Amino acid sequence: MRLDKFLAESSIGTRKNVRIYIKDGAVKVNGKVITEPSIEIKEDTDIIEYLNKLVTYRGKVYYMFHKPGGCITARKDETNKTVFDFFNEVNMNGIFHVGRLDKDTEGLLLFTNDGEFNHQLMCPEKHVEKKYFFIALGSLDKEDIKKIENGISIGKEEEITKPAKIEVIKSGMYEDLEEEFDIRKFYNINSNFYEQPVVSGYLTISEGRKHQVKRMLKAVGCYVIYLKRISIGELDLDNSLKKGQYRILSEDEIQKLLGKCI
Ligand code: URA
Repeated sequence: MRLDKFLAESSIGTRKNVRIYIKDGAVKVNGKVITEPSIEIKEDTDIIEYLNKLVTYRGKVYYMFHKPGGCITARKDETNKTVFDFFNEVNMNGIFHVGRLDKDTEGLLLFTNDGEFNHQLMCPEKHVEKKYFFIALGSLDKEDIKKIENGISIGKEEEITKPAKIEVIKSGMYEDLEEEFDIRKFYNINSNFYEQPVVSGYLTISEGRKHQVKRMLKAVGCYVIYLKRISIGELDLDNSLKKGQYRILSEDEIQKLLGKCI
């Protein structure tokens, strides 16, 4: 195995960071400083040290996390809670989030130290579907639905979106749906909005542009007030995970995700 891969999969740092540590002379293999990240080592027999401390190989790890609203998808932030703050029992060095969710978006977020896994799921050419549940102010008629399904313009200098799937679950005037959608609990909703139509449903996309779901719905006049990712490829968010909880993915789940996109 390559030295930089070994260190990244042993929670020393991301692949990029461990290359820097190696080049800086902080890593020894069998007692000798090595500055070439690509050298091959034998993970079972070679003795690898980082800053003169023995490194034990951890291997690849994969986590499913139920992201709550109100935290940002980043390792550190001056003012906001981040998704990493929830992993207080795991050494998260070298582990990163697979894609991003907006601060106010909830739902399924994956973490790993496996760069190839990340690439397989995130690379647009792989067309891995991400399914979201939304509640939005506004309404969706047949024309809007067709536009979303066929591809829609969401920004001046951007390509139109790839075909998507949309399924409306409920729609009507807010006052008639108040019991189901208590929109007062969502963000900065102004009481004037209470007399508006609301719509909920599932939107499934195979790209991952910034704020894509919100922008697609905005392009047909809908303003998202609640968004939750419920699946990635064949993997659904585990309903037993409460917001802020995480668990290791099973081998089957990893294969289910990868099987879809190789
Ligand atoms: N689309 C969005 O608009 N926001 C997200 O967090 C994810 C997808």
